[in-house]
Amino acid sequence: MVTAKRLNGIGEYYFSTKLREIDELNKQGKQIINLGIGSPDLPPHPDVVKVLQEESAKPNVHAYQNYKGSPLLRNAFAQWYQTWYQVELNADTEILPLIGSKEGIMHICMTYLNEGDEVLLPNPGYPTYRSAVTLAGGTCVDYELKEELQYFPDFEALETTDLSKVKLMWVNYPQMPTGQLPTKQLFEQLVAFGKKHNILICHDNPYSFILNDTPRSLMSVAGAKDIAIELNSLSKSQNMAGWRVGMLCGAKERIDEIIRFKSNMDSGMFLPVQLAAAKALSLGKEWYTSVNAIYKQRREKVYQLLDLLHCKYSKNQAGMFMWASIPDNYADGYTLSDDVLYKANVFITPGGIFGSAGNKYIRISLCGSVEKFQEAIERIQAAQL
Ligand SMILES: Cc1ncc(COP(=O)(O)O)c(C=O)c1O
Repeated sequence: MVTAKRLNGIGEYYFSTKLREIDELNKQGKQIINLGIGSPDLPPHPDVVKVLQEESAKPNVHAYQNYKGSPLLRNAFAQWYQTWYQVELNADTEILPLIGSKEGIMHICMTYLNEGDEVLLPNPGYPTYRSAVTLAGGTCVDYELKEELQYFPDFEALETTDLSKVKLMWVNYPQMPTGQLPTKQLFEQLVAFGKKHNILICHDNPYSFILNDTPRSLMSVAGAKDIAIELNSLSKSQNMAGWRVGMLCGAKERIDEIIRFKSNMDSGMFLPVQLAAAKALSLGKEWYTSVNAIYKQRREKVYQLLDLLHCKYSKNQAGMFMWASIPDNYADGYTLSDDVLYKANVFITPGGIFGSAGNKYIRISLCGSVEKFQEAIERIQAAQL
């Protein structure tokens, strides 16, 4: 069967190919330690699981749900934004629950892009932006994030380029994979840039609570709703990646436009999942502190591991990963990753999968126990790389 042209250039996700290779190595008895994948290994709060159990046992919760989600969940999102980001959102009109933020990336691209429309994408950045733009028929235009510019967009350089066909810009802070935190000034610059060039600024914000005490939202900038939308997620901050709960917020007009596409793709989430998600959003500071205490212990181990590999890194990173530059004796992160995989049976993500600007870097996930990191350190020591 010939696949549609829109799939041209859309490859299999790097991790699925690599996981198959790791499976093969495991079948040969290698017991690879996988430090690559960013899926939280810790459980959600027990009260969240309890709500799901109790609600799903009721007879009247199994029907199709509203496309815009339960008002209870939308109110919980509004309250969450007010409490943590000091952003006021109208729960009826400015919030759209999503089945994870990843689907939102696709919905946004399908809603706004025509053939030939250009989209600014961070390099390095989350690979899904590129796939979604391509699938929707748009044209990807990379903007490089450089370490010496704090991994912020180089606005001066962007101003010298032809932006006349650019319709959207994807941004993501805390940034994945670099772990770079945003500043208030950066967010203000983004909103001003969007307004000046009439570019819809799409901010993807799933990491603001991880290893970060000051969560920020792009929507806190005055006038942001005129030109920006924001995605958020319970995957990382509430340890609910497999539950698939996220959200989109923005002006009523944007929400209505995106619903025109989304309501033709799927229906509302299972009500007990929505009610449990609302519970998760109401958790207090102790929740975030307890999760971060564990990530901090792990991060100490990852520092040791990176030192062993002679990698350089900032200790001021947020999110579930550590980003580090590789030593000169390796041509790129792929070579280092393969060396560590084949000699020490440890898998580390090469930075190049996030774009060419990541070639000289690697990324290590914090989603593993301290014991697992210790074992990885011992293996790397023994392999004498
Ligand atoms: C930058 C970024 N955005 C979005 C996602 C997707 O998150 P969700 O589970 O909400 O779909 C991820 C997941 O890894 C991510 O790293």
